[in-house]
Amino acid sequence: MQAQTVYLNGEFMPIEEARIPVLDRGFIFGDGVYEVIPVYSGHPFRLPQHLKRLQNSLDAIKLANPLTAAQWSQLIRRMIKLNHGHDQAVYLQVTRGVAKRDHAFPASAAPTVFLMSNPMSTPERKLVTQGIACITATDNRWLRCDIKSTSLLGNVLMRQRAAEAGCIETIMFRDGFLSEASSSNVFVVHGKDVSAPPNNHLVLPGTTNDVVIELARKGRIPLALREINEDEVRSADEIWVSSSTKEVLAVSRLDGKPVGSGKPGPVFKRMYKLYQDYKRTVMRRG
Ligand code: PDD
Repeated sequence: MQAQTVYLNGEFMPIEEARIPVLDRGFIFGDGVYEVIPVYSGHPFRLPQHLKRLQNSLDAIKLANPLTAAQWSQLIRRMIKLNHGHDQAVYLQVTRGVAKRDHAFPASAAPTVFLMSNPMSTPERKLVTQGIACITATDNRWLRCDIKSTSLLGNVLMRQRAAEAGCIETIMFRDGFLSEASSSNVFVVHGKDVSAPPNNHLVLPGTTNDVVIELARKGRIPLALREINEDEVRSADEIWVSSSTKEVLAVSRLDGKPVGSGKPGPVFKRMYKLYQDYKRTVMRRG
């Protein structure tokens, strides 16, 4: 294992030395937001989009951004170098800082800024060629799923349900309509038509989701952003999930039943190729 360097409030240090006071509101209340940025061959992928979403999350929780976009970018690039370039996932978190426990915001507290980077491997070949198994559940999370909040208990419980069922993800329905999965966005395919739920307060606006939508448009794959009911998901020919760490993967089993043919379908295969080509182009540009 190579030494892991993290950043905490202005300093780079080995992860073993990083300490957070127990009164940090991130620890006490989950009062903070985060981002996960994939890095391929040392290049952060869709960094401006991640920084824009970070700003939106901070605005939504009324926390001033402690750094400018240029400062974030510099910090992230330094973190990538210190963690030996290559493929990795940079995690960053901003909390409302350390203050006496009181639900209301502290009058003055410096936000806590933490970054780390973990090795990232793109999904193993088997998951790409065979697809993944998922379960479904009723979405019982709060109504601001558009905020990338560190308060992830709802998502954690959903992901654990999937893990206990030997599955990768839990796909959720709210009031009979598809929202997203425990840590990814969801697409469904009927014939050649792809659909995905629109961005609103019920889903995280995924950066990978945006890439897939852009690639569908460029590749003339019909894609509609619309409400999708549970029957449409269960009768889909293909289901995909997308996230920064999963990229785009096909769901081959849902609640123990095969999705379509039970293998990643033709529209997925096309999208997967478009995605890998796009990644290569972006990496070449640096
Ligand atoms: N999660 N929806 C949820 C609930 C998520 O947690 C994520 C990502 C996504 C996909 O977003 P993106 O494409 O920008 O990664 C959608 C990250 C990877 C995580 O929490 O580790």
